[in-house]
Amino acid sequence: MGRFVSNINMAFHAGVFLFRNIQKSLNIAKAPQLNVGSVVLRGMTRGDEPELLRIHHCLMGGHIPLPTVNLYRWAGSKLVLVAVNIDERDADPVIVGMNMYHFNKRDTVEETIHEGFLGVAPDFQRRGIGTKLRIFAKNHFQINGIAAISTKISSSNVASLKSARNAGFRPVQKIKLAPKGEDALHLICKLN
Ligand SMILES: CC(C)(COP(=O)(O)OP(=O)(O)OC[C@H]1O[C@@H](n2cnc3c(N)ncnc32)[C@H](O)[C@@H]1OP(=O)(O)O)[C@@H](O)C(=O)NCCC(=O)NCCS
Repeated sequence: MGRFVSNINMAFHAGVFLFRNIQKSLNIAKAPQLNVGSVVLRGMTRGDEPELLRIHHCLMGGHIPLPTVNLYRWAGSKLVLVAVNIDERDADPVIVGMNMYHFNKRDTVEETIHEGFLGVAPDFQRRGIGTKLRIFAKNHFQINGIAAISTKISSSNVASLKSARNAGFRPVQKIKLAPKGEDALHLICKLN
């Protein structure tokens, strides 16, 4: 009985999440394509899904929650930004970075969009790709009328904190990250 109630509860919250995000995404255009040096920045396409799941798993372990995967099947071109390496020495262009966004309940109140994940493939880190993705996201969401971007970063994640600061994020609150209660910061990047 407890499990049944818990499943119903999870399904309800997944439905609310999807409804909120699909409704908010209707006002957002597909991300444009931009060449910056040896990378192309663009919105996610359907064919990117397996590679994005692989990079996320490689960097974080675990899985992206199913409601989020389903959301990005529908609105990934608007909410997920990818970096593709087009260095001529490489045979094929490969996805080397990803930056995922969604709307939490708090974002609806504060007119922000939430950066859920930023990841750069290990061989391509420390080349400015993470920061380029964040700056690309700022321009994309600003053009689409979003007032600010929110994110949560563990206090021990020096690389992500530096990149966020370089991209214009500022800490507004000390928080604990679920599920382990790790020290973290809630940061905001204003877009207007
Ligand atoms: C966080 C992450 C996306 C940064 O991407 P990146 O492309 O390597 O970042 P950048 O090259 O834009 O570097 C940004 C700044 O961080 C610094 N930096 C990058 N990696 C670093 C590291 N491992 N240790 C210390 N500083 C680091 C860079 O030197 C740069 O600082 P500077 O401008 O003062 O020189 C990447 O490290 C990553 O994928 N980490 C694993 C996933 C993760 O933790 N994601 C964030 C939480 S959701």
